[in-house]
This record gives sequence, C-alpha cells and structure tokens, in this order.
Amino acid sequence: MIGRLNHVAIAVPDLEAAADQYRNALGANVGPAQDEPDHGVTVIFIELPNTKIELLYPLGDDSPINGFLEKNPAGGIHHICYEVDDIIVARDHLKSTGARVLGNGEPKIGAHGKPVIFLHPKDFNGALVELEQV
Ligand code: CO
Repeated sequence: MIGRLNHVAIAVPDLEAAADQYRNALGANVGPAQDEPDHGVTVIFIELPNTKIELLYPLGDDSPINGFLEKNPAGGIHHICYEVDDIIVARDHLKSTGARVLGNGEPKIGAHGKPVIFLHPKDFNGALVELEQV
C-alpha cells in the first residue's frame, strides 16, 4: 500500500542554523522557510535526489513541536512520511488493523498542499508515521 518515502522530518532548536548546516556543510539544496499555521510549525524543505528532509521548528505556543524539543533539546527525528495513492482507502485499511489515526481521524492539508494523516507512534514501533496522498 505505501509507496515512496516522501520525507523525513527533523525537529530543530534553531532553524537558520540547521538550514545553514544542510546548505554549507552538507551541500544540499535548501528551500525557503514556510509558516504552516494549521500545523503549528515553520518548515524548510531540503530536496535530495531520492527524497526530502523537512526541518521543523515550532510556530506558536501550542505547537506540537514544543513538547518534542523539551524532551529532545538538541532536536531529533520527528516523523517519516510515506506516499499513498488514496488517503481514505489507506486510513480505513489501517483502522481496520487497529492502528490509531491522530486528531479527529480526517485528513488535513499538509505542507505540500496534499492531504495527510498521522498514525500513532505506539502502533508503529515508536515512530510517528505521516501518510501523504500524492
Ligand atoms: Co511531514
């Protein structure tokens, strides 16, 4: 059911420092910062030949990234995103296997303008999983 790895998201305590590191030390193609108020994050996408890295920084006091950075002050891998053809078919299949969908269970529009859902990390070996319809 899942297809390509769309991106790996890394929560960072200093967005500009992280972007500079990917641009200068790693020589990557680093995009501009984008505010995503619906998700409580500012993101920077880094284009790699086979996938993307998403740098995540909190936007607002109730950002879901605040708690993560409190537990991981140096930053850390926050989630991985797999592509699916049909988000509703994927969601309903996963629910039938007992996996929990975060939030109200309905897809939200993600940072690429496409519908996304998140799956409970306790159901996936401790990894927060995002599914994006492409
Ligand atoms: Co993501």
